[in-house]
Amino acid sequence: MSVIVVEGGARLQGTVGVRGAKNAVLKEMVSALLAPGRHHLTNVPTILDVELMSQVLEHLGCRVEQGNEELWLLVPDELNPEAPIELVRQMRASIVVLGPLLARTGVARVALPGGDDLGARPIDMHLGGLEAMGAEFELVHGELVGALDGRFKGTEVELPFPSVGATESLLFAGATAEGETVIVNAAREPEILDLIDHLVAMGADITGGGTSLVTVVGVEALSAVEHRVIPDRLEAGTYAVAAAITGGDVTVTGCAPTHLRMELMKLEETGAQVERGDGWLRVIGPERPTHVDFATLPFPGFHTDMHPQMVALLTVASGTSVITENLYDSRFRYVGELARMGADITIEVQHAIVRGVDRLSGCPVLAPDIRAGAALVLAGLRADGTTSVGDAEHIDRGYEDFTGRLGALGALVSRG
Ligand code: EPU
Repeated sequence: MSVIVVEGGARLQGTVGVRGAKNAVLKEMVSALLAPGRHHLTNVPTILDVELMSQVLEHLGCRVEQGNEELWLLVPDELNPEAPIELVRQMRASIVVLGPLLARTGVARVALPGGDDLGARPIDMHLGGLEAMGAEFELVHGELVGALDGRFKGTEVELPFPSVGATESLLFAGATAEGETVIVNAAREPEILDLIDHLVAMGADITGGGTSLVTVVGVEALSAVEHRVIPDRLEAGTYAVAAAITGGDVTVTGCAPTHLRMELMKLEETGAQVERGDGWLRVIGPERPTHVDFATLPFPGFHTDMHPQMVALLTVASGTSVITENLYDSRFRYVGELARMGADITIEVQHAIVRGVDRLSGCPVLAPDIRAGAALVLAGLRADGTTSVGDAEHIDRGYEDFTGRLGALGALVSRG
């Protein structure tokens, strides 16, 4: 088991740069499947999930070459249209290969991902959308077997919820479909906009990106291009909270503060001073944070993937905070670990009532997922004594050299 060991008490100071967005690059690797040729992605983070998606693409017949913060994807004329359970289980996001595989080969055999640490996470909206565009699916021994006769057929698809993944599946299917696809209630996340920019550079005809109504006019073929991945707002936001929880003074560079409006606003409400500029932000943490309430929502609401880090901060706030989680049914699993450190949190269905305590005390805890893992490390920075965060490989999925970067800011952290 991989462990991150944290000695609490250091105030973080200095500058940290962020890498490309995990949740953009993973889908941009998949969009490459739509066009044979040599694709080039830059500002690529060195994280476990990129490695896992590379394995998925290699299994589908691609060659992946990794450079310093860049990737070349060599996509062949003939793809192997099958993603087995060993890969899909490790990399749930790989379900979005369904659309490109069907578009390119007319068949797809992709293991059904099932739930994960965040809850049930169904894929009904992906499948419903692709079916409306002409695909047929059958579940055979745990594997989704998809078939498409000819090209996808453009149509209007209304999503019951602005799902990031379902919007991506529809963008992939619509890009080379016959006719026009209209996605109603599309996700508006910055990573979706970046994916659209990538697809448009490849030759797709997509308008309305960043709004709830996206129109895709199918084209005959796409081509391989070079694309620079947008900055990771979750990595930037995590370092912002690290500054706040330690009463530190940290400047985050290479980021887009406009992608974190709600999260930074809430951070300011806790008493942190936040300065923003073009491509940077600076956070000066308060001696003791003040309580705040927030609810997670699709963009531009408060991001669910910033929720555990913010809860870590609020455990030591003056007063009581109420957090409402609207995206996932099992996001609060890490709360028991924070309680071991002395946090006072009660869960009522999708609400967490966080009563601020004077101090946390370090102890061994386990990271249940990427963001909760990062949150436990942040709590350890504020706690008395030593905190060891086990199952730290979850953190490696989404953060490049987390301990190295925190260490460069003065945190007493090491990797066990
Ligand atoms: N949902 C359905 N049916 C569907 C699709 C989604 O019910 O067909 C539900 C999900 O179960 C969930 C909600 O809708 O409750 C939102 O899911 P969404 O599809 O928007 O999320 P996702 O595409 O599965 C991506 C990110 C997540 C991030 C969410 C929300 C990637 C690889 N993952 O997941 O990131 O939390 O959007 O913004 O892009 C992370 O980075 O730590 C992470 C979990």
